[in-house]
Amino acid sequence: MCGIVGYVGSQQPSGRPLEVVLEGLRRLEYRGYDSAGVALVSPGASLATAKKAGKLANLVEEIDTHPMPAATAAIGHTRWATHGAPNDVNAHPHVSGGVAVIHNGIVENFATLKAELEAAGVAFTSETDTEVVAHLVARAYAQTPDLTQALRTVAQRLHGTFTLLAVHGDDPTTVVGARHDSPLVVGLGDGENFLGSDVSAFIASTRDALELGQDQVVTITPTEVTVTDFDGTPVEARRFTVDWDAAAAEKGGFRSFMDKEIHDQPQAVADTLLGRTDTTGRLVLDELRIDEAVLRAVDKIVVVACGTAAYAGHVAKYAIEHWCRIPVEVELAHEFRYRDPVVDERTLVVAVSQSGETMDTLMAVRHAKEQGATTLAIVNTHGSTIPRESDAALYTHAGPEIAVASTKAFLSQITAAYLLGLYLAQLRGNKYADEIGQVLDELRAIPDKIQQVLDRAGRVREIARWMADTQSVLFLGRHVGYPVAMEGALKLKELAYIHAEGFAAGELKHGPIALIEPGQPVFVVVPSPRGRDSLHSKIVSNIQEIRARGARTLVIAEEGDETVRPYADEVFTVPQTSTLLAPLLAVVPLQIFACELATAKGLDVDQPRNLAKSVTVE
Ligand code: F6R
Repeated sequence: MCGIVGYVGSQQPSGRPLEVVLEGLRRLEYRGYDSAGVALVSPGASLATAKKAGKLANLVEEIDTHPMPAATAAIGHTRWATHGAPNDVNAHPHVSGGVAVIHNGIVENFATLKAELEAAGVAFTSETDTEVVAHLVARAYAQTPDLTQALRTVAQRLHGTFTLLAVHGDDPTTVVGARHDSPLVVGLGDGENFLGSDVSAFIASTRDALELGQDQVVTITPTEVTVTDFDGTPVEARRFTVDWDAAAAEKGGFRSFMDKEIHDQPQAVADTLLGRTDTTGRLVLDELRIDEAVLRAVDKIVVVACGTAAYAGHVAKYAIEHWCRIPVEVELAHEFRYRDPVVDERTLVVAVSQSGETMDTLMAVRHAKEQGATTLAIVNTHGSTIPRESDAALYTHAGPEIAVASTKAFLSQITAAYLLGLYLAQLRGNKYADEIGQVLDELRAIPDKIQQVLDRAGRVREIARWMADTQSVLFLGRHVGYPVAMEGALKLKELAYIHAEGFAAGELKHGPIALIEPGQPVFVVVPSPRGRDSLHSKIVSNIQEIRARGARTLVIAEEGDETVRPYADEVFTVPQTSTLLAPLLAVVPLQIFACELATAKGLDVDQPRNLAKSVTVE
């Protein structure tokens, strides 16, 4: 939530600071788009700010109308509102006494701090918690004119979550950042340095980056980066190289990032599988630096995640339990720690997250660690907090996911979770090597099969456009088709703002069937008839039950499955694969359906209303 960019370059004022920051905000806009703002510092000309409610385009228009001065340092912010309406006044930066501050997170003790400042005669102009920080930093700076020290002093007084960036009009070659439970990474340039909520903020300029730890303060000048803790003790930050480039974060000719990312899925799955076996074909998950004895002793796995990532966890549960005979629970991360979960040192807690920053998931990881569990992160974003705080990480290689609604990350999370399940089965001797090899071969065939689904998506797109006025769509599935149904419903809700529900097909008769009335569209995810026969025939019966009540049935079925045709108004076929791997194919038509229908309604599929990509508040 909220995107943050900082830049400092040569002593010579120029347009580059503004350009870099606007470019960074463009790439970070998926994190929030309620308002945007920048602050520039130039020698002599001190501080200049511009901010505007709404999307970044509004700020750009404002700057085009009222040009800003050449500068040496800049900070920029794109907001997902927490405190105060998304208007011009509440937009960041917030300025006090020559200091400009931008903030991602929530200052939970802001009311107390605000009361203290008001008692001292400070007048507030906005409703935000961030303005409190700006006044506090300005007051600390007035006592000791050292911006780094001022931010450290203030950071120690704040409760809640924050990434803060600050500049001062008197110091044109310094940007200071502080982080507590919110993300911040450093980009290392030549004669210039960068700060960003994630690496996409500066990927157009550098792929060399530094990962900051919890409770650290960073000061960047054109030639130096200094990192300390909140007490001022110097700390070593881990250096890393970003393994994708600016082109990967562009639309590449597609009309939306979402459309592009749906089409990236064959590559995302292939890349997540790449390099995971040795020359003998044995699975090697080098990144999993957890003692093998610990993994052998695991007697329960708990997956913690939110939204789409949690549905990936639900799919993984079926596979891991089947392959490893270890019980797997899937828990929404925000529910996990509040219900006193039963976890101990023999529990493996697997956190699944595209961003690696979801606060609910991070808190669940921390809680699991406190209980003595081993924690493993399945994460897409390098340099993020969840893998850093977990005992081990298994990275998905989906590349940058910019559209707010998750697509390729979902498929690569499922793929990585399958690798984990197979690895545990190999380690614990639950499966013979040739059985594992067979599943891996099937997995390697999946990217081509996803491509086939994409190539034949014309019909699903056509139906989606016809259904642009639909008020409600239901989704049914059984077994691994159940989380696919829930994911199909989530995509439609968040992209097209249509009421949608995903149900376990067997649950229908226990209530939801009352929703069926003539014409009600229902997607049904049908398992392979070559799998467990009872599963297939049960869902065929479910289709007949809803059809008898007038539902319009839109069926996702395996190629060659003719049994469903008599009961389906529309059949979208996917290539054959084994039952457990089928979600990697079956979800794709549902993603395309939601994306196309939302586009037909004229909606922005990359930035749906009220949402943000990286949910860094609880
Ligand atoms: C839905 C979606 C969200 C995320 C959820 C977790 O399309 O994108 O439901 O899956 O907010 O985010 P990460 O994976 O970053 O932890």
